[in-house]
Amino acid sequence: MGPKARFDGADNAASAAGSTVAFVASRAMASTRAVREFMSPLSTRASRASRNRVRSFAFRHVGPLIDSARQQNNQPFNLMITRRTALKTASAATAALAAAATFTDALAQAPAPTGPFTLAPLPYANDALEPHIDAATMGIHHGRHHAAYVAGLNRAVAGTDLAKKSVEDIVRGLATAPENIRTALRNHGGGHLNHTLFWRMMKKGGGGQPKGALASAMEKKFGGFDKFREAFTASAMGQFGSGWAWLSVDDKKELRIEATANQDSPLTAGRMPLLGVDVWEHAYYLKYQNKRADYVAAFFNVIDWDFVAERFGK
Ligand SMILES: [Fe+2]
Repeated sequence: MGPKARFDGADNAASAAGSTVAFVASRAMASTRAVREFMSPLSTRASRASRNRVRSFAFRHVGPLIDSARQQNNQPFNLMITRRTALKTASAATAALAAAATFTDALAQAPAPTGPFTLAPLPYANDALEPHIDAATMGIHHGRHHAAYVAGLNRAVAGTDLAKKSVEDIVRGLATAPENIRTALRNHGGGHLNHTLFWRMMKKGGGGQPKGALASAMEKKFGGFDKFREAFTASAMGQFGSGWAWLSVDDKKELRIEATANQDSPLTAGRMPLLGVDVWEHAYYLKYQNKRADYVAAFFNVIDWDFVAERFGK
C-alpha cells in the first residue's frame, strides 16, 4: 500500500467513524448545534480539516456515550482512545465504532421499565431550567439515563421480596441485601433514588438562598450561605470521576457536605440527602463540556430551596 492509498484508507475510515458517531449522537442529540455543525463536512470526502472536526467531535461526545454504556451495562468500560491514535491512524475509526456499537447495544438492551419501579415524568418541561441547564441535556438525562436506572432496578429486584420495598428502603438497607444483586441495587437503586430527588431539588425560577431553620443551621455549621456554597462547590469539584456532591443531615440534625462516587447515596450511611448535584458528565457535558465549575455555578440558579428546606424539616 503506497502513501496515497494509506492516506485514502485513513480518510475513509475517519469518515466511517465520523458517520457512525454522528449517527449515534444524532439519535441522542438530534437537535443540537453540535450535530448540525458536524454533519456538513461528512457530505464530501473527508479533508484534513474535517478529520480534525471528526476527532474533535468524537472527543467531545464519545465521553458521555461511554458514560451511558458504563451505566447501562454496569461494567467497567475498557476502551482506550489516545489522541495520537485518533489523529494518525485508522484505528481511531475502530475505537469510535466500538464505542458507538457499545452505546447502541446498551440502548437496545435497556427494556422499557414495567415495574414495580417506574419513571415519573419530570415535574417541569425539559426547557424549564434554561439557560442554566439545557433542554437537550434534561431530555436525555431523564428519558434515557434515569430510565436506564429504573429498568436496571426492576431487573435486579425481579422475583425477590425487594420488589415490594420502596427505593429508599432498598438504598438504606444495602448492607443486608442479597449479595448477588447488591451491586445492581447500589448502582440502579441509587441511580433511581438520586435522580428522583435531583429533579425535585430544582425548579424554574429557583436559586437564591434558603430561609428559616435551614438558613440558621447553615449559619451555625458553615458560617453562612456563602461559606456553604463555597464548600459545596469544592466538594462537587473534588469528586474525581462520576458521582454526586451532597448537603445531608444526620439523625442529630447536623448538616454535612459530602461527596459520593457513582450512584452512592448518603442514605446508605444513615444520613438524609437534602440537596445533591449530579456531577456525572451526562449531567452537563452537552452544554458545559469539561467546565464542571460553570455547571455547578449554574445549578445554584435553579435550586428549589423550599423543597430542600422541607426535607430538612422532616
Ligand atoms: Fe445523572
